[in-house]
Amino acid sequence: MKIIIMGAPGAGKGTHARDISEKYDIPHISTGDILREEVHKGTELGKTAKTYMDSGRLLPDDIIIEIINKRIREDDCKKGYLFDGFPRTIAQAEMLDKVTDLEAVIYLRCSDDIIIKRLTGRRMTTDGKIYNIYFDPPPEDVEVYQRDDDNEETIKERLKVFYDTFGPLMDFYKKKGVFSELKGDDRREIVIKIIFQMLDAIAGA
Ligand code: AP5
Repeated sequence: MKIIIMGAPGAGKGTHARDISEKYDIPHISTGDILREEVHKGTELGKTAKTYMDSGRLLPDDIIIEIINKRIREDDCKKGYLFDGFPRTIAQAEMLDKVTDLEAVIYLRCSDDIIIKRLTGRRMTTDGKIYNIYFDPPPEDVEVYQRDDDNEETIKERLKVFYDTFGPLMDFYKKKGVFSELKGDDRREIVIKIIFQMLDAIAGA
């Protein structure tokens, strides 16, 4: 299965992508996670990425396209993949279009007030588990950290970038007949149930 999960920052892409990846046994490819790993390792790419990520701006397309071109050639991608946070521009979507046929593009629509609460309340573990101090608090003995870009100023810029770039991407995938929109505001259990119903129908088709 080849899928994209899309949505504004905090819409729940990473949260639901982990469940989808596990159920359908496909790798979860998050460009944000790949970049944060480079930042953590202190590589040249990581140093460049940090300047963009900390201010909420998108990295240049050529950097992202190179990362994806390399990643999808790895063995685990033979059975399909789930993209989270990619593509974010038409140039990235066109690159992907040349190398794959997607089965579904799932857009999680979410309101801004919920997004702000989700992002300011998000806490992560170093192995990628996602909690939220308001909706899904981490157990007391679990060590968590807050992402550098989860502060109100950067969140506002990330949202602006999302709304500036999403329209053309939505049109691109609507024309291809693979675009579906879901209500991302609902509780986690409800959203994932609807996603699974949709993907089960595709997998069984
Ligand atoms: P990226 O890492 O992709 O971040 P983002 O798009 O801002 O999205 P988030 O990871 O913040 O949100 P999410 O939707 O995954 O939310 P989550 O599931 O964690 O990108 C970061 C940066 O990297 C970009 O700004 C850019 O600089 C760069 N970058 C990355 N990709 C790029 C690309 N392709 N091109 C150029 N630059 C790129 O959920 C958030 C919180 O809400 C959690 O606490 C969770 O527990 C909670 N929650 C989620 N869903 C629910 C629910 N249904 N009910 C209750 N709580 C929920």
